[in-house]
Amino acid sequence: MTPAITPIGLLDSDQVKSVISAATLAPSTHNTQPWRFRCTPAGFELHADPERGLPVVDADQRELLLSCGAALFNLRTAIHALGAHPATTLLPRRDEPTLLAVVRPFAARRPDPRLVGLADAIPRRHTNRTPFETATIPASVVAELRHAAEIEQAWLPRLDAHQLELLRELVLKSHQAQLSNPEFLAEWRYWTGRDRRSRDGVPEYAAGAMPADDGGWILRDFGTRRSPRRGRIDEDDPLVVVIGSFGDTRLDRLRAGQAMQRVLLTATVAGLDASFISQPVEVSDVRGELRTLLGGGLWPQIVLRLGHGRPVPWTPRRSLDDVLLDEEPMSA
Ligand SMILES: Cc1cc2nc3c(=O)[nH]c(=O)nc-3n(C[C@H](O)[C@H](O)[C@H](O)COP(=O)(O)O)c2cc1C
Repeated sequence: MTPAITPIGLLDSDQVKSVISAATLAPSTHNTQPWRFRCTPAGFELHADPERGLPVVDADQRELLLSCGAALFNLRTAIHALGAHPATTLLPRRDEPTLLAVVRPFAARRPDPRLVGLADAIPRRHTNRTPFETATIPASVVAELRHAAEIEQAWLPRLDAHQLELLRELVLKSHQAQLSNPEFLAEWRYWTGRDRRSRDGVPEYAAGAMPADDGGWILRDFGTRRSPRRGRIDEDDPLVVVIGSFGDTRLDRLRAGQAMQRVLLTATVAGLDASFISQPVEVSDVRGELRTLLGGGLWPQIVLRLGHGRPVPWTPRRSLDDVLLDEEPMSA
């Protein structure tokens, strides 16, 4: 049974519900949805759900924090679009490490139309693994993506053609390292190739296309024997970007997740599709090489591929009953 949802500050219970639903539409590695929420009269709490971690591919829970950061960005943006200010405290209690953020909706203010646009884009954003059409992405849109990362205290560095070529090699190297690791494969098989009834994990219908023969960007293979990948990803260069942070603490990762989601929603508003290429940040020695490739000052957090793909179906989410914690008073 869904726990009773209390109004929070200016928001009535239906609005609180809509805010949590928006948060759950965030992307997460293998669609693990590693988050839980508590609603108290004073505000929203976002908790990590470590039981939904990925001990092999994400042993230090970096991607779990990115995913929760993305959910937090949705939550903040949905509150903003309802006309309230989401006052946010990250990692508020040292003695409660799973509590990642507290968000208190404060006095109503006129919503910023750009943020309302991002809030509207939340349900339209889907990971798109289809081949992307060749169409130059205007420099002004790339600048907007860079700005989106920076507002959330992360960075989207410019990569020249040589760096992109080296990055492509790192993707291949890390992809092959993962495919030769039986523990990775076991974890991978558990979370992917799910049928339509599953509310988490990656469904088989979300599989993309096969890499091109000439060694285009390698996308993860979500296909199954019953539903193999369709066609070759024969595409010219999509826009490939890396989001990096200047530190690699839990706080930096939580911020990077918010930046990732702000970049993804900015791309959605600009009519772009996106998919993730996270292999080179998941394999730690390759991540080190990527860090060097970026000049040594930034910690790479995620690699995104952007362009114009074909429409893709929605990937399911768990229900609110599964993600809501019982209400308890929020202290200080
Ligand atoms: C940190 C992170 C890493 C991800 N890595 C990959 C990846 O390497 N390949 C991929 O195809 N999808 C990747 N995804 C996308 C998830 O599979 C996707 O978000 C999830 O299945 C939910 O689908 P949706 O994004 O369409 O809502 C990643 C997502 C996150 C947040």
